[in-house]
Amino acid sequence: MIKFILNNTEITTNMAPGMVLLDYIRYERNLKGTKIGCREGDCGACTVLIGELKNNELTYTSATSCLTALGNIHNKHIVTVEGTNFDYDPNPIQQAMCDEGGTQCGFCTPGFIVSMAGYCLSDKQPNQTNAIAAVDGNICRCTGYKSIERALNRITDLIKDKTADPIDFVTSKNILPSYFTGIKERLQNLASQSNGQAEAQSGTARFLGGGTDLYVQQHDKMVYADINFLSNKKQLKGISKQDDQCVIGGSSTVTDLITSPVILEYFPKIAEVGKLISSTPIRNIATLAGNFVNGSPIGDFSIFFLALGAIITLSDGENTRQVPLDQFYKSYKTLDKQANEFVELFRFTLPDKNTQFAFEKVSKRTHLDIASVNSAMKLTINGNIITDARISAGGVFAFPLYLLKTSSFLIGKELTEELVTEATELLQTEIAPISDARGTSEYKRLLLSQLIKAQFIKLFPQLEIDKLLV
Ligand code: FES
Ligand code: FES
Repeated sequence: MIKFILNNTEITTNMAPGMVLLDYIRYERNLKGTKIGCREGDCGACTVLIGELKNNELTYTSATSCLTALGNIHNKHIVTVEGTNFDYDPNPIQQAMCDEGGTQCGFCTPGFIVSMAGYCLSDKQPNQTNAIAAVDGNICRCTGYKSIERALNRITDLIKDKTADPIDFVTSKNILPSYFTGIKERLQNLASQSNGQAEAQSGTARFLGGGTDLYVQQHDKMVYADINFLSNKKQLKGISKQDDQCVIGGSSTVTDLITSPVILEYFPKIAEVGKLISSTPIRNIATLAGNFVNGSPIGDFSIFFLALGAIITLSDGENTRQVPLDQFYKSYKTLDKQANEFVELFRFTLPDKNTQFAFEKVSKRTHLDIASVNSAMKLTINGNIITDARISAGGVFAFPLYLLKTSSFLIGKELTEELVTEATELLQTEIAPISDARGTSEYKRLLLSQLIKAQFIKLFPQLEIDKLLV
């Protein structure tokens, strides 16, 4: 049985846990405000809010219901656009969209309203940057974004005095319905009932994290699959510092990563990396372990953590073993992982004061796109001598690649423009890009060289650009 609260109604269902929430909402509950657009997480027409208790505090995040399995919402609160309605009048968010002409055909509008409600319910500062970021997963094909931006400005004005308790604020100001004030207690009650979700029954059960790629690639297979839901396991969450190591639970999401105090201390520009990777609702549900085991040659966080020398811990539920991420990939989508193993956690050494890190990605669009080529670099410098180097690259091989030869070549050498040029020549012998929709093989070779140079320039501004960009 799966139990959750849908808007103001408690639900108990024995529908297939692999069914996506979008279909449940529309076809089983007849809530047709949540729209079907792409079913791939790209358009935001199906956006819902997921409220859950974290450290006994209720927090709301946006998610694409087309990629969210029913089994992943057990004990949570789901808000659709209908759940933001008052009995008769539009809520102030809906009114702002009407007044500013933010809706035309209306197909995208419920998704925008839900994301905007999430912005009001979040602990984010009310300002234009955060307002726009809240709707970065919503696409409108006909209205034009300026009117939506004006509506966001009005909403920001509405919540400018937001207090430390956003739920109390938005209900007391009649921005969202009053039932939101009782949700925390109802979720606590739900969690305290003996309603733990049944584990998958068969030894061949599939593991599911956020599902942001699995449901795009294998939607039909997943609906009736026997599934182990890893995102619900609290022991697989959390980001902590242990001595000089950072330890990250496999089911931590991208949002968990880019908002983690530990990560922000050592990677203060992590938000810039986050922005290059998918959209807010996807980052809210996509797991880091999912990115690793997907094995995509351009997996952004595989590239990121390859350069950091991450070591993953695989578990079959009883026994564990450790595998360096740079030995995890064997060939295209083939991993050093048994079918009954999942990523319990991974760890890496936090950078010291002499260590610098950079991540670069080039895609056809700046945002909401997969990489043509991406790369990360971790370099430790003592004086002007490189004492350690790890460089990774995506989109240039059958799997996310650690550039072993090039990294080794740099170690012990003085950092000069000539050295960087030699390294970019050497890396050409390590890669084997293919021509595809994201660029020709030649283009990707050139692109990787330029990305590596860009990383050196970014990290070491003393290098002369003219000597590098030849
Ligand atoms: Fe487009 Fe879900 S239908 S994001
Ligand atoms: Fe038509 Fe946005 S109003 S798609």
